[in-house]
Amino acid sequence: MKRAYSFDDVLLRPKYSDLTSRGQVDLSSNLDSKTTLSLPVISSPMDTVTEDAMAVSMSRSGGLGIIHRYNTIEEQVELVSSARDAGAPSIGAAIGMTGDYLDRAMAVNDAGASVLCVDVAHGHHAMMRRALYELKEVFGSGTHIMAGNVATLEAFEDLASWGADSIRVGIGGGSICSTRLVTGHGVPTFQSILDVSKTTSEAKIIADGGIKTTGDMVKALAAGADAVMVGSMLAGTEETPGETLFTANGEKYKVYRGMASSAAQRSWRGKSSTPEGISATVPYRGTVDDVLKDIDGGIRSGLSYTGTRTIAEFQSKAEFLHQTNAGQSESKTHILWRHK
Ligand code: XMP
Repeated sequence: MKRAYSFDDVLLRPKYSDLTSRGQVDLSSNLDSKTTLSLPVISSPMDTVTEDAMAVSMSRSGGLGIIHRYNTIEEQVELVSSARDAGAPSIGAAIGMTGDYLDRAMAVNDAGASVLCVDVAHGHHAMMRRALYELKEVFGSGTHIMAGNVATLEAFEDLASWGADSIRVGIGGGSICSTRLVTGHGVPTFQSILDVSKTTSEAKIIADGGIKTTGDMVKALAAGADAVMVGSMLAGTEETPGETLFTANGEKYKVYRGMASSAAQRSWRGKSSTPEGISATVPYRGTVDDVLKDIDGGIRSGLSYTGTRTIAEFQSKAEFLHQTNAGQSESKTHILWRHK
């Protein structure tokens, strides 16, 4: 049986560095010849993460926001347009792979979305193959097509050969996912990234699900990801959709929920069956710009610990160690104190 490693199982071995400032690190990552991210971070297409405000902030910070598809075509077009009008350099929009997905794709593309994300839980699927062929027929190579999710190299190679320009990699690892509990299927996201990094295709790798810290982002990039997609790390910020709520003692919080949770299913299709996600409340965290500044600094610092200036150089020099359980405990903050 194959061993599968999670982010917490591994650490990067520090290496000689001659960088004198984090500013010497260049985090830029090309998704295609027209789309370069100066911060390789993408916000998840979830209804408690990315609408217009998040997409604008992500794009202005050098990342990318993918506006979710759990709305009518008209509503999504409105969100894309108002992001476009706010001057976001690039905007992504999610679509499905059945029903009116082609109409949605054309409408959001006309409204200004330059990245279309075919957003399904199990992307290694016959319907994905048909959808990617149809999308390529309609859009040619002028529009970036992101697709997923997948967890294995063979799935990655298939989606790439069907026309995906970038592929979301990770099944069941998300902080609000219960897919592994409900179905018994999945692959730890870090292992999936390591596996798909052996691809011979040109498709870009988007690590998605289970990224909890900038350290996990750094590990995902070292393992071969071109960018990371996150939900929980942005949840609770001002720019996420949804009201800011208050506890009885005045603390602020916001809702963050899996798109296959009962609550989300009831919102977008009026009923719920066999949830594969949960709904959570998270503390309010202020503006996403501040969160993104910390993320940017953390990733830059990560590359500097291997003594590298670009993601390509980092990927060629990075060396992983498998840490023991004691190592995992030591890797977390673990102050001990005793009251006398
Ligand atoms: P994080 O760990 O960043 O994960 O919060 C976000 C990613 O989780 C996926 N996602 C789901 N997966 N059930 C799942 O199994 C769900 O209800 C669900 N909703 C989102 C998605 O890939 C997202 O980017």
